[in-house]
Parts: sequence; structure tokens; C-alpha cells
Amino acid sequence: MGEFEFAPTVLVSVREFDPNNDREGVEAVERICEVGPNGKLSLFTDLHGDPICRVRNSPTFLMLIAEIGQETVGMIRGCIKTVTCGKKLHRQGKSNTETEPKQVPIYTKLAYILGLRVSPHHRRMGIGFKLVQSMEEWFRDNGAEYAYMATEKDNVASVKLFTDKCGYSKFRTPCILANPVFAHHVRISNKVTIIELSPNDAELLYRSKLATTEFFPRDVDSVLGNRLSLGTFLAVPRVGSYQPDTWSGSARFLLDPPPSWAILSVWNCKDVFTLEVKGVSRVKKTLAKTTRVLDRVFPWLRLPSVPNFFEPFGFLFLYGLGGEGPQAQQMLRALCGFAHNLAKDRGCEVVATEVSSQEPLRCAIPHWKMLSCEEDLWCIKRLGEDYSDGSLGDWTKSPPGFSIFVDPREV
Ligand SMILES: CC(C)(COP(=O)(O)OP(=O)(O)OC[C@H]1O[C@@H](n2cnc3c(N)ncnc32)[C@H](O)[C@@H]1OP(=O)(O)O)[C@@H](O)C(=O)NCCC(=O)NCCS
Repeated sequence: MGEFEFAPTVLVSVREFDPNNDREGVEAVERICEVGPNGKLSLFTDLHGDPICRVRNSPTFLMLIAEIGQETVGMIRGCIKTVTCGKKLHRQGKSNTETEPKQVPIYTKLAYILGLRVSPHHRRMGIGFKLVQSMEEWFRDNGAEYAYMATEKDNVASVKLFTDKCGYSKFRTPCILANPVFAHHVRISNKVTIIELSPNDAELLYRSKLATTEFFPRDVDSVLGNRLSLGTFLAVPRVGSYQPDTWSGSARFLLDPPPSWAILSVWNCKDVFTLEVKGVSRVKKTLAKTTRVLDRVFPWLRLPSVPNFFEPFGFLFLYGLGGEGPQAQQMLRALCGFAHNLAKDRGCEVVATEVSSQEPLRCAIPHWKMLSCEEDLWCIKRLGEDYSDGSLGDWTKSPPGFSIFVDPREV
């Protein structure tokens, strides 16, 4: 990607990550970036020796590293895919009077930046900026029309780098909702039936009901068919015409849906990376362990025990949340309980999801405030001016919808 000079004596080069030679250098930077120099409470991510694990499931991806001489001093990951950026009315049938107009998605090629890190010893030298610029060059070469990134809103360095220096604007503020996995199974409402859908049925339902949701991936079939996707589950009222043993497919369901239903899919992040909370006092660790021991011994008490966050742990991510009808929230709550039990059986400590701040089903998602992030900040930039999204215009200026589709490949 090229070399550039910061000071007369410092030459930094940016090039593509080489999995055979760069792994150690990248891991060394990850370690000092995540743990932080002052030893305070922090979240450490273990990428299981695979620095590109968080982008490799996307259709097109790249990782770049910055180095000074032989030393790795920074890195950035990026991926590109096609997603919904808006919707328009479309008439189906031979004449305008034959059918009602229907909402159809407007797609755009979108790039995503993640995992940008610069070694603390080399910050404020322009390396982060150069990495973003180099990644954007690759995005443009590959036809991406927009690029976006997500960060905590109080990460001043990151927010300023993208908004002040790189021309991104603040776009959406979804919330990350995380719930601990207890040592007991949670009870699921007996008014709800849960049906597991095949990837084909899930795809049909998602394309019919969620394709006009912002950020919906056009290749949703490859998400659903990925080995990390543990399944799609549909909740319907127990009293009704849909039961697991008589299920005859989504096409029939769509013709005659029940008054209320909800859907979600589960993604196994545990097999991609694990997390660990560091810097917690021994007293707090012991207290947390006590709650777990009690919960394990007396599971019928259903104590809200604190999982073991202090050793590497995995989590399940819920995506494709949706539903319709007056009891959709009840249906979704049952699905979240079902996902909790799935996570417990798979040895995960957390179930997490990310939804729009205006998501109507949000209050049905159980979560602990201390584990969640009320305002994740997504910033966006239009990469070129020589195209138009037709009736939508410039996506970066459009108001948010009620929901977003968060792609689990980018968690
Ligand atoms: C965010 C990060 C990548 C920036 O890297 P960097 O190489 O220091 O950034 P640059 O030197 O290229 O800075 C470019 C601009 O970003 C802004 N910036 C960077 N660090 C800043 C800070 N600590 N405070 C305020 N603004 C900052 C400034 O606008 C700066 O331009 P200026 O130096 O002309 O004022 C680095 O701080 C880092 O690795 N942080 C930890 C990991 C992280 O938070 N990553 C981002 C997740 S998306």
C-alpha cells in the first residue's frame, strides 16, 4: 500500500497482513491496546490466534498493518457487502391497477471498518489516519459506495479521528443489550410455541418481512447457512395452527400468519473469539463465584447469578430480531429465554444483541444495564459522489428507521 514519512527519521509502511509472518506482531499490539497501560478494569479480546477472524466470514475482506522497520505498530480490518439502505414503492403485475404497490429494498455496496489499533507508543503520529485512508482506497477500488464504523461514543480518539479528520458523520446510535447466562435454565412461557426453521425457510421469511430494514444483507442466505449460525427460531401462540410437527414451510405461514409472532437467529461468537474482564478485585470475584455456586446448588430458586467473566468466556449473538402483532413482545421474550438456555448448554456466559434505539421490540429483550451499551455510535461516509441511490438520495442524510439489521459477521 506504500510508505510515508512522518518525521525526517520515521518511515511507516502500510501493507496487507500476511498470516504467515505478521501474527505475532499483531497480537502484541492487540494486547497492549486492549489491556491498557494503567491496569484498570478492561475487556480483553482473545482472537484465538486468528487476527482476521472478525472479518473472514464477510464476502470480501482485507486486513492491513502499519510497520516501522520490522515492528508492527498498527492494524485495521475492513469488509464489503451489499445491504439495504432504503426502500421504494414497486408495482408488481402487468398493469398498474393489477396489484397494490409493495415496498422493496434499495441496495448499496457498503464497507465496514473495524479493529483499528495503533500501538500506544506510536499514537498521534498520523498512523491511524493513514490506515483509514489506505483502507478507504481499497473500498473504492472494490466499488463500495459508503463506509461506516462503530465505536463507543466516549472514545474521543476514535470519534475525532473519524469525524474531524476522515470526514465521517454521526449516523445511528443503536444499543448493545447483553444478558448474563445463569447457572439455571430460564422458564419459557407455556403460551408460546417455538419452531426451528431451516435456513431456506428462514431466508424466505426474512426476505419477505425484513428486507427493507436498514443494513439488511442481500446475501442473508450465506449468513444463515454459515456454520456459526446456530439456527433461526420462530415463536407463535401455542393455541393456533402452527406447531413444530405440522410445520409446512414459510410460504404457507406468510399466506396466513397468526395474529402475533416473532423471529430471531442465533450466532455462535464463542467459536470466533472470547472475552475476558481483567482488573477486578479478588473480593468481587469471590462474591460473583458465591452467586454461581448458590445458583447451581438451588437452581429452582432461579437466582440471577453472576457468570465467570474473569476467565476467557464466549457469547451468543442474537440477530434478525423481528415480529408482528399485539403479542410480538411476549413471543420475542420467549425466544430470548430459549436462546439463554441454548447459551447455557453451550457453555457461554453471555447472550448479546444490538438493536436500533427506536426498536419497538426492544423492551422485550432481557439485559443487564452494567453489561450493555445504551449508545453505540455508528459513523458513516459517502465514498464517492458519482452515483445516486435514486429516490433515496444520500443515505448519510436519511433519518433512521425503527429497526436495523445487525450483521453477526461484523460483531
Ligand atoms: C483511535 C486510534 C486508532 C488513533 O490512532 P492514532 O494513530 O493515534 O491517530 P492519528 O495520529 O492518525 O490521529 C488522527 C486524528 O485523530 C484525532 N485523534 C487521535 N487521537 C486523539 C486523541 N487521543 N484525542 C483527541 N483526538 C485524537 C485527531 O483529530 C488526530 O489529528 P491531529 O493529530 O492532527 O489532531 C488509537 O488511539 C487507538 O489505537 N486507540 C485504541 C483502539 C481504538 O479505540 N480503536 C478505535 C476503534 S474503532
